[in-house]
Amino acid sequence: MTLETSLKSRLFDSPELKKVEERLERFANSQYKETAELTTPFLIGRGKKLRPLLTILCSTFYKPFDDNNIDIAIAGELIHTASLIHDDIVDEAKARRGVPTINHKRGNQMAVLSGDYLFAKAFELLAPYNSSKILKTMTTAVREMSQGEICQLQNLYNTEVTREDYFDYIYKKTASLISACCEAGAIIGEAPIDKIKIIRNFGIHLGLAFQIIDDLLDFTAKPLNVGKPTKKDLGQGNITIPIIYLFETSKDGEKVKEIINNRELTRENLEYITSLLYSNGAISYTYSLAKEEIKKAIICLEEMPDVEVKKTLSRLTYFISERKE
Ligand code: FPP
Ligand code: MG
Repeated sequence: MTLETSLKSRLFDSPELKKVEERLERFANSQYKETAELTTPFLIGRGKKLRPLLTILCSTFYKPFDDNNIDIAIAGELIHTASLIHDDIVDEAKARRGVPTINHKRGNQMAVLSGDYLFAKAFELLAPYNSSKILKTMTTAVREMSQGEICQLQNLYNTEVTREDYFDYIYKKTASLISACCEAGAIIGEAPIDKIKIIRNFGIHLGLAFQIIDDLLDFTAKPLNVGKPTKKDLGQGNITIPIIYLFETSKDGEKVKEIINNRELTRENLEYITSLLYSNGAISYTYSLAKEEIKKAIICLEEMPDVEVKKTLSRLTYFISERKE
């Protein structure tokens, strides 16, 4: 068994994931009929369920996972799915997780409202726990996600965008919720305050690596593998780190800026820019940046007690950097 298949079976056939899937299925079936029909394919479909898994795993450093806390893990997945439904409206996306988006199938109005519904449900699931710390970390994440998306939107086609801008909005739009899910796990697992902070930082680095890889896959993956069209970010004016690196390091950067400024992002030009990213080393540079974040996440884990879950989380972290979908 290769490392990847053994990790896949540890995580993706794991009792933790079974619990998450079983609860999500129960949630999906208990939904209001209209939203059930629209959102179920995204809730119990091909998503990785990374956020609820992280909540559960991060809760087990000091005591076993208490099944009564499952809704805290589920809330993270509902917030994530709601944000993707809204993101697909913003991006005018046609497919997600291998299925047509709600906006594509039923229009923006229905998609906005279905996202709102899941979003409200997430907080309804969190409310009975009466934990102000968990509510605070989740609400801060949602605020930051919205800010991250707004900031990204404002910078579309802006060829002056810097790597600092990029890191700021990928932290907000992605790492914030991932780290909140890890932190919520550490809180319910009664970790000491200093260890809760470490777990939060672990989640931040993992989340940054996750988004950097996502932005890389947009140039390198096959659409069938990722369940959505590729070369879409730049096509829509979203300038991510491989392109910023090209601007910083290559004389071809000026030409690419011109293409973007003139909104000439044709299929041909996108292929041309992608070939530059390979020849200029931007693809391997971006991968090395993700690896750096992975290393920082692992350093955080090293400060946690030596229990079984530490190994699982570190393998999950490496797996994120190798992901192809
Ligand atoms: C996907 O990233 C989108 C996000 C990580 C965040 C979306 C956040 C919002 C729409 C604001 C918050 C809204 C709610 C309801 C909490 P991406 O666009 O890089 O990835 P993609 O290629 O899969 O679309
Ligand atoms: Mg998007």
